[in-house]
Amino acid sequence: MKVAFFDSGIGGLSVLHHAMKILPDEEFVFFADEDNVPYGTKSRAEVLKLVEAAFEFLVAQEVGAIVVACNTATSAAVRAMRAKYSLPIVGMEPAVKLALDLFPARKVLVTATEITIRGDKIQALIDRVHAREFAVLRALPELVEFAERMEFESAAVEKYLRAEFAAYDFAEFSSVVLGCTHFNYFKDTMRKILPPHVKLLDGNAGTLNYLIKLAGLKAEAADKIPRVEYFYSGRRVTDAAELARLEKYLRRLDKMYLL
Ligand code: DGL
Repeated sequence: MKVAFFDSGIGGLSVLHHAMKILPDEEFVFFADEDNVPYGTKSRAEVLKLVEAAFEFLVAQEVGAIVVACNTATSAAVRAMRAKYSLPIVGMEPAVKLALDLFPARKVLVTATEITIRGDKIQALIDRVHAREFAVLRALPELVEFAERMEFESAAVEKYLRAEFAAYDFAEFSSVVLGCTHFNYFKDTMRKILPPHVKLLDGNAGTLNYLIKLAGLKAEAADKIPRVEYFYSGRRVTDAAELARLEKYLRRLDKMYLL
């Protein structure tokens, strides 16, 4: 099946990267809305319009399923997209349930964009998994900018994360949830700052399990590299320098995968 992965930018590559490891027989379309990234600091109405345009484009590519590999777009627009289209649509959900399943009754720092943090969807999730006393929310919008600039391990990244994390006594926390797909690029710096017992949890495996179920796919060990077509805001990426940029992100994700 041809499956689309859609994000405001290159964060969604972290979900695609995981999919390429477990779904070698599928074909992928990756759509990064590079003309409009970041989404997290825009209004919900603006994001909804951008997601509508991206979906129109992707549906015209005759994809069989769309993964909204962006927590922000999921928060602002997935309900509207499901009402409009009948193909399988899978969104991202910050891994709060996973955090509480693994470490019941321990605090969890849920990091995401402003839109995700302020949205109803995350509140509904917190209620659904009984996380009211345990979930502490924090927006980390600068990480999206750093990721788009390919600035992963600089002194500025470390300074930013140290300042943001300084507000918490991590002895009380079991984990940090990466509730924005762009945050996966910073696992090494987070590991450097956080005490070793604090786990970094993303929603990628959960999202792909749901895709597999909903679209009737079969997960297996990858013995080949699946075919991927890349698009920036509807323009096919064919330029060698741009393809090399995307490849660099994927190699970065190889290093972040098991941290
Ligand atoms: N990667 C996105 C997310 O998962 C959004 C980043 C942005 O555009 O602000 O939330």
